[in-house]
Amino acid sequence: MKVAIVGAGTMGSGIAQIAASAGHGVVVYDKSPAALDRSRRQLEKRMGNFQKKGKLTNTEAQIIQTKISYTSQLAELSEAELLIESIIEELGAKQLLFRELEDIVTQQCILGTNTSSLSVTAIAAACRQNPERVVGIHFFVPADQVKLVEIIPALQTRTPITQQAQQIIRQWGKTTVLVKDRPGFLVNRIARPYYLEALRILEEGIANVATIDWAMTHLGGFKMGPFALMDYIGNDVNYIFTKRLFKSTFYDNRYQPSVVQKRLVEAGYLGRKTGRGFYNYFDHSTNPAPYSDETLGKQILIRILVLLINEAADALFHKFASREDIDLAMSTGIDFPYGLLSWADDLGIGFVVRQLDELYELYHEDRYRCSPLLRQMQKKAERFYT
Ligand SMILES: NC(=O)c1ccc[n+]([C@@H]2O[C@H](COP(=O)([O-])OP(=O)(O)OC[C@H]3O[C@@H](n4cnc5c(N)ncnc54)[C@H](O)[C@@H]3O)[C@@H](O)[C@H]2O)c1
Repeated sequence: MKVAIVGAGTMGSGIAQIAASAGHGVVVYDKSPAALDRSRRQLEKRMGNFQKKGKLTNTEAQIIQTKISYTSQLAELSEAELLIESIIEELGAKQLLFRELEDIVTQQCILGTNTSSLSVTAIAAACRQNPERVVGIHFFVPADQVKLVEIIPALQTRTPITQQAQQIIRQWGKTTVLVKDRPGFLVNRIARPYYLEALRILEEGIANVATIDWAMTHLGGFKMGPFALMDYIGNDVNYIFTKRLFKSTFYDNRYQPSVVQKRLVEAGYLGRKTGRGFYNYFDHSTNPAPYSDETLGKQILIRILVLLINEAADALFHKFASREDIDLAMSTGIDFPYGLLSWADDLGIGFVVRQLDELYELYHEDRYRCSPLLRQMQKKAERFYT
């Protein structure tokens, strides 16, 4: 199968590598020759590292590299059977591109988009001839390492296209989950309270960043604390995503961005990439130590955890994805220690509802409204899994 990747940035380059590793011929297009050059050099470097670590032989690395060609001519994508677009996250730019692509690729070519926050339906709508073959194929960064890919049919997408996309991506060694075209899709939306509630706790002066991170990692088993994770992702990227989600959910209070994070962005304290974010990353810099009090730590953990569970339950209530896919997505897409719905079963649905209601009682903010699904389950003494 011939694969085309449009956009030779961080994600497009990673996806090209995965497709070539799966044995496909790949052509990468970017409007910027410099981006194409960077992508080629980065691939060479990664292949070199893989060889040093013994993950690939010299021949295997060579084969992968020869399978990828680079072009700044859109017409060279004409033979693609699967195309994945991964250009700048702007609806207008993506729509323009898809409209152009329709006249270049064959009628059989599946058109995938790696958008992380735009409506797949709105992107598909740009296609005048055949919007039914457009589907969201959402990889996570770093694309070659994160197992999960969200498959997001647009309102127009024909079911066989979704199934084919899912099948191909699984053949590439990825785990796929099927997600409705809703703001933020699944992982990034359900994970929002991990950041936003941590920021709220910080803003209220309940604990400092180190203590909140300690509570989530040491007591909760999360791989990275919320502040370390925001610094890793980049506060600019994390903040913009939240802002977009807030807007596209018609300003649902649950996704209200944080002023604390906005100020960091304004100051240029973007995280690891600028040497400073919530923490300092410059050589010899010191960071505050956590106040390792178990009682406080558990309060923090439970508060963030019940809000995460509430998001996961609401995603199921609104049928964004299946119960199994919701749990699979959070454990493989963002490395949460357990699926949130099975975690809810362990804590007890009644306990989760009571914690949410206590928060609601205190704040009277919509942000803490309990999912109707959890309330129904509590009344019927149900669990997510039997
Ligand atoms: N970086 C992430 O964490 C991440 C994760 C998942 C999905 N995504 C999504 O993947 C897409 C790309 O993100 P990225 O981080 O790789 O961006 P990037 O800035 O690293 O790369 C984007 C590339 O697209 C090229 N480009 C821009 N407009 C173009 C056009 N009209 N035609 C051809 N090429 C064009 C640019 O030259 C650039 O090389 C976005 O939709 C983003 O939301 C990003």
